[in-house]
Amino acid sequence: MDNSLHRSDEADPGRNDGAEQLSLVRAEKNRAAREVQREEFLGMTTVIASQPMRRLLTAANRVGRTNFPVLITGESGTGKELIARAVHHFSPRAGKPFVDVNCAALPEHLMESELFGYEKGAFSGAENLKPGLFETAHAGTLLLDEIGELDSRMQAKLLRALDGQSFFRLGGSRKVVADVRIVAATNLNLEEAVASGRFRRDLFHRLDAFHLRVPPLRERPDDILPLALWFLRDSSLTLSDEALDLLTDYAWPGNVRELRNSLNKAVMFATGPVIEPSDLPMEIVRGYGESSGGGFSLDGLEQQTIYRVLEQTGGHQQKAADLLGISRRTLIRKLKLYRRIVA
Ligand SMILES: Nc1ncnc2c1ncn2[C@@H]1O[C@H](COP(=O)(O)OP(=O)(O)OP(=O)(O)O)[C@@H](O)[C@H]1O
Ligand SMILES: [Mg+2]
Repeated sequence: MDNSLHRSDEADPGRNDGAEQLSLVRAEKNRAAREVQREEFLGMTTVIASQPMRRLLTAANRVGRTNFPVLITGESGTGKELIARAVHHFSPRAGKPFVDVNCAALPEHLMESELFGYEKGAFSGAENLKPGLFETAHAGTLLLDEIGELDSRMQAKLLRALDGQSFFRLGGSRKVVADVRIVAATNLNLEEAVASGRFRRDLFHRLDAFHLRVPPLRERPDDILPLALWFLRDSSLTLSDEALDLLTDYAWPGNVRELRNSLNKAVMFATGPVIEPSDLPMEIVRGYGESSGGGFSLDGLEQQTIYRVLEQTGGHQQKAADLLGISRRTLIRKLKLYRRIVA
């Protein structure tokens, strides 16, 4: 999705009216609702708007139809779990179990019994046979989440299970066969982990038959507004243009999860029907809050420069923006923020 609609005022020097800005967001909202793709993968709604996400979804579809292992990488909060679900959804295994195990959550000895199960009497307290997640996922998909956290002994066991399509339950002497499609996910750079000896090269190649990389949110800004509107769906609030600009400019180190959490907080803090910059978490508005302190700060300098240039142009905003090398829209946004902070 391109942002042309909510950016179309860049070239319109006459426009400076809140109501009109709101209507732009509303128009965009309607357009977003029409053009943005939303898919349910195992009950989880996935918003797909940007080109990179569309391509990723197409790849997940193609890969999903095969039986090969898939490695999904991407920063924390980018949506790896949703993509793993999409792979299962598109696969011939769709009607079969999707089982999700977090490899970082359990200590090594529990991990083994979690994955492979145990026989009755395998250890004191093992009163009944317990099937592991490999068996639970039979005919379906097993998501090994945070695979980079698996310790070396479990890496070896996992490799053996994948190579032989079979394994022993803890305390067992009979091989158990399970037909499982493996999807592994991690926010670590596994190549680096291999290079530094923390992750087995053979297991990496086994899992990396297909590699899906989920791009960080900052590489797909066209997803920000559609995601924001999706996360605001249950509230009656809308976003002001300034708030939207801030969301679009922010680098989102915590990716989609951070966007969702930020909007949840904004909904709690907003006092009117519109989410304003002051309702957003500090790190998103970072810097602006310090500019009124009178201290020597970069933002204070920026504010002084803007006021000085405005004096030079006799208050003409477009001329000032041209001199400063920023858009008039950005200039107005900054002015509004200064005003809010001084007030
Ligand atoms: N495209 C999307 N549409 C809707 N919600 C999304 C999308 N991408 C991510 N989310 C939401 O953001 C949150 C984080 O996504 P997810 O758990 O899949 O991230 P992750 O990549 O697995 O992160 P981590 O590495 O921390 O486990 C979830 O609540 C998820 O529903
Ligand atoms: Mg995850």
